[in-house]
Amino acid sequence: MTARRVSRRVAGGAKRSRMHDGKPSWQDPELPQQYKQGWVEFYKLKFKVTPDVLIPRPETELLVDEVLDFVNNLHPKPYSLTILDLGTGSGNIAISLAKNLSRSDKLCLSHPITRFGYAPGVTILATDISRKALKVAKQNAKLHGVEKQITFIQSNLLGTKNTQWRKNGPPDVIVTNLPYIPSARIPYLDSSVKDFEPKIALNGGRDGFELYRKLFAQIKKLGWHPALMVFEIDYTHGELAINEAQKYFPKARIEVKTDLSHKQRILLIKATGWEAPEELP
Ligand SMILES: C[S@@+](CC[C@H](N)C(=O)[O-])C[C@H]1O[C@@H](n2cnc3c(N)ncnc32)[C@H](O)[C@@H]1O
Repeated sequence: MTARRVSRRVAGGAKRSRMHDGKPSWQDPELPQQYKQGWVEFYKLKFKVTPDVLIPRPETELLVDEVLDFVNNLHPKPYSLTILDLGTGSGNIAISLAKNLSRSDKLCLSHPITRFGYAPGVTILATDISRKALKVAKQNAKLHGVEKQITFIQSNLLGTKNTQWRKNGPPDVIVTNLPYIPSARIPYLDSSVKDFEPKIALNGGRDGFELYRKLFAQIKKLGWHPALMVFEIDYTHGELAINEAQKYFPKARIEVKTDLSHKQRILLIKATGWEAPEELP
């Protein structure tokens, strides 16, 4: 999500919604161009977008950079690694990772079931609470030829009963751009955002950090210790994010990084003492 979205206020407060019967009007001059043309570029790849998914923003590419940097610099090369993209939307993060990791000479991205009973290389799980978003994400995975490398799961944060979670064990990397706009700020967003992008992709609750707080509590309750967690945050949330992360993950290394506009944008939580699953002989 972007600073642009929150800085352009609508003169005179909230405008009348431009949605008709819950559907966008395709004639509306404020309908985002990306929805009109039906696609957007992200990480040098083309993604289908519909009003069921958030339009991927350029700053979210930084999350992909962080994960690729981490995975490609692992020594020794791990035998297997699970990456969870939570709130996948159009699938832009998971698919960019799949495309780039499959090009990497350091790790293979494959799913043959070996005699050891689990898959070598990188496993990517992509989840969303929205079935409609997952449909678009799956279409994008197919367009990019990575549909077999990503497992899509419908889930409200980590509260799924789906056995896929258990099959892969705890993820080594969690990357997510959960909704982070405080509810009270939503009526003041630009019409192109608040009237056309899915509310479920924007609304971060009372202070905008509620979903992240819930997620932190779930990760702690499950006893997961991911090597790396990468979260996109609102540019006003830097200090709050560090304080909350310290409460739930007191032993981790916690850092906030800025985006290209020098706004605080990424929360990084790195486990201390994490060891990659070892390469088998
Ligand atoms: C800000 S959008 C990010 C979409 C995409 N990952 C990106 O970066 O462009 C947030 C996504 O989280 C999903 N979401 C919202 N609440 C969720 C929840 N409780 N559990 C899982 N996903 C959720 C929304 O449906 C939406 O697709």
